[in-house]
Amino acid sequence: MRIITSPAAMKAWAGEQRSKGHTVALVPTMGFFHEGHLALMRMAAAKAEKVVVSLFVNPIQFGPGEDLEQYPVDLDRDETLARHQGVSALFIPKPEEMYPRGFQTRISVAELSRHLCGADRPGHFNGVTTVVCKLFHIVCPDFAVFGEKDFQQLAVIKRMVADLNMDVKILAHPIVREPDGLAMSSRNSYLGPDERSQALCLSRSIARARELYADGVRDTGRLADEVRQIIEPVTGARIQYISFVDRTTLEPVSQADDNTRLVLAVTIGGRVRLIDNGRLAKGG
Ligand code: PAF
Repeated sequence: MRIITSPAAMKAWAGEQRSKGHTVALVPTMGFFHEGHLALMRMAAAKAEKVVVSLFVNPIQFGPGEDLEQYPVDLDRDETLARHQGVSALFIPKPEEMYPRGFQTRISVAELSRHLCGADRPGHFNGVTTVVCKLFHIVCPDFAVFGEKDFQQLAVIKRMVADLNMDVKILAHPIVREPDGLAMSSRNSYLGPDERSQALCLSRSIARARELYADGVRDTGRLADEVRQIIEPVTGARIQYISFVDRTTLEPVSQADDNTRLVLAVTIGGRVRLIDNGRLAKGG
């Protein structure tokens, strides 16, 4: 596995692979790998001959007062884990190489970035689309793999790729969960033992909404009340949003159907912001 730190060297290596006729898949990450990341790497390896994993804690997607400075890092462990997933190259650029003096461009997917996490974290998605666009230009992958846990991010990236005629196929990997249901996230490492159990209210509320949907409940106002009744009594849990949205447009719907997704953001212990989501129909 190659460790590549400069965008120019990454571009040259990926170009060389393509000129040899290899297909390339990119898995963009911010590191501190867990089983969710490794599943994305395996999906990439099943699709393409060469897998590039980028590991970059992207400063421009963090707002003032967010967790940029605390974001967990363990490069040695990440390197070992990636090696075991058949990754061909790990791209670990420095912020000053990605954003040299004078950098001022932003990619903005205006509508899809506006609500849900975009409302709580202004500028976040512009930071994500800008770095992902740069990574696509550096690596020129045939495929790029993203997790469905960041469901809005996935929708925003798909929109950017379609709108800008980018030549990359976006692959979505289902959410990977801990055995007790908690969606895997690098930010779970911020949770203390009590908060770790409080955080289960997210996946429990999705399971409850799915049960009600299976029983025929379609009114999303009623479904949202049931979700709230699970989360609100949990000590330290504060709802940022609960929304039932169309899975493509992310527009809120009043009557749920098989395309409806429940998306949630909840702060645990006053500081750890967790997101989760799930289809109401069986199988997602
Ligand atoms: O999902 C993430 O880890 C990040 O938002 C991404 C896509 C790597 C961009 O920095």
